[in-house]
Amino acid sequence: NHSAMADPGKPLAHLTPNVGWMNDPNGLFFDNETSMWHAYYQYNPNDNIWGLPLYWGHASSEDLVTWNDHGIALEPENDESGAFSGSIVIDFNNTSGLFDNTCLPGQRIVALYTEHSEAGERQYAAYSLDGGYTFNYYKHNPVLDINSTQFRDPKVFWHEETERWVMTLALSQEYKIQIYTSKNLTSWEFQSNFSHHGVLGYQYECPGLSKIPIVHTTSSNLTQSAGLTTNNGFADYKWVMFLSINPGAPHGGSYNEYFIGDFDGKRFTAQDAATRAVDCGKDFYAMQTFSNAPNGEVLAMAWASNWDYSGYVPTRDWRSSMTVVRNLTLRYYSPNPETSELTLYNQPVFKSSGLNTKQRLIKKSLKLNSNESAIFNVADGAHGLLEFTLEWKVNSSAVTTGHDMADLSLKIKGVEDDSEYLRLGYVVSAAAFFLDRGNSRVNFVHANPFFGNKVSKNLEPYESAEDGLPIYNVQGLIDRNLIELFFNDGSSSSTNLFFLSSENYLGEFEVSTGVDNVFTILNFDVQQLSV
Ligand code: FRU
Repeated sequence: NHSAMADPGKPLAHLTPNVGWMNDPNGLFFDNETSMWHAYYQYNPNDNIWGLPLYWGHASSEDLVTWNDHGIALEPENDESGAFSGSIVIDFNNTSGLFDNTCLPGQRIVALYTEHSEAGERQYAAYSLDGGYTFNYYKHNPVLDINSTQFRDPKVFWHEETERWVMTLALSQEYKIQIYTSKNLTSWEFQSNFSHHGVLGYQYECPGLSKIPIVHTTSSNLTQSAGLTTNNGFADYKWVMFLSINPGAPHGGSYNEYFIGDFDGKRFTAQDAATRAVDCGKDFYAMQTFSNAPNGEVLAMAWASNWDYSGYVPTRDWRSSMTVVRNLTLRYYSPNPETSELTLYNQPVFKSSGLNTKQRLIKKSLKLNSNESAIFNVADGAHGLLEFTLEWKVNSSAVTTGHDMADLSLKIKGVEDDSEYLRLGYVVSAAAFFLDRGNSRVNFVHANPFFGNKVSKNLEPYESAEDGLPIYNVQGLIDRNLIELFFNDGSSSSTNLFFLSSENYLGEFEVSTGVDNVFTILNFDVQQLSV
């Protein structure tokens, strides 16, 4: 009987609290004095659902893959209030006057966040003198109060061009992203509204503005534009405004969108009227970028859940994980043959020193027919941490009738019980990639009305083969109950939770098709990883 709790086991290479509830990532930063990454998160240590008092939990990492949890870092003012979402900046030059020379420049840590209570949402400052482990609260809080109950999630950065701190935050239910500036992080001046853009949903949350490098590529070979570099190491960039809306996402619940444009230090101007999704899965929300990431790179993580069902997912002691950290760039991408335009790429920062390959299976060149399937078994000691790359070629002229669905299907099965599996793959007539997370015995998967089992993403070819046929490409990361898919080097991604019976970790891959002569696997590479 699997209908009770089916705790999938904590993800191994994703930030997950040991006990309690987690939502948005907060205060992400890199400490260049110790080469440590720090991440905070919305945290209820007292229960596995959201509730007040709400804290900032804290975790640190050397490699952005495995995380050490340090528990509570910031507290709300009282038991009926919450230290809501916010960000951290490094005040290298002590513009705030909160530090003296005993604090190394790279550890002059200032948090700006929302103190939420029934009375209102007001912006508070706190600072750390010990590398981000404990905080002192600024004496003259709030640093910004406009007498609103829906005014939150400050994300702050240093704007070099105007030598000012810039804060974006949401005037949530008026659909405004407000921009404020400051010389000292504690007094803030209103500059502009970025209002009524994108899918509106019920409300705006967790905005963020970032200077994203433009990377020029030739086919699939990444060649960073040579020559001219600005001080952040990249030749060219655009400003991107990120926004979270909940509920009211096109696919239900919560999602992240972005706008490409320009920023003059006071006002953000979108280049066009388009709304673009950061990730097209069900479980990607409240994405935030890291402050002070080296080399001008923009790294980010999001909460890997959806407010529609996050409080009911079948985990017991803990609830929710963050996504893997992603490297964000802008590149020219063709969503169709007549357009090439800047698109946000996100690529996982995953295979760094924190992981070892336990087992690897590679298959190159395999013609698929309807009567055979290829099986790759990584059952040996399966513990649910896998990475795979699949590249396939499609000969659509071999599809003889429009009545048969021409699918390339990849089933990733549980090792203990192979009747539980993820099915993913590609269908020629839809030109789209699908994921079905519904083949599970876990009651929640079928009973929850919002945990839709099927998601898809239309795909453009990655490149052309010598014979002119299109080649498609996907990279997948699987960690216990989370699958993150990256298409075409990250021109789009899809992040989704899934739940199988306890300890039935994925480990057997079966590739098959219902049609002859249509699909050729060019590369299939599966790795079982260990932390
Ligand atoms: C987004 C959000 C934020 C808020 C926080 C509260 O998920 O609603 O707007 O600060 O969560 O936990």
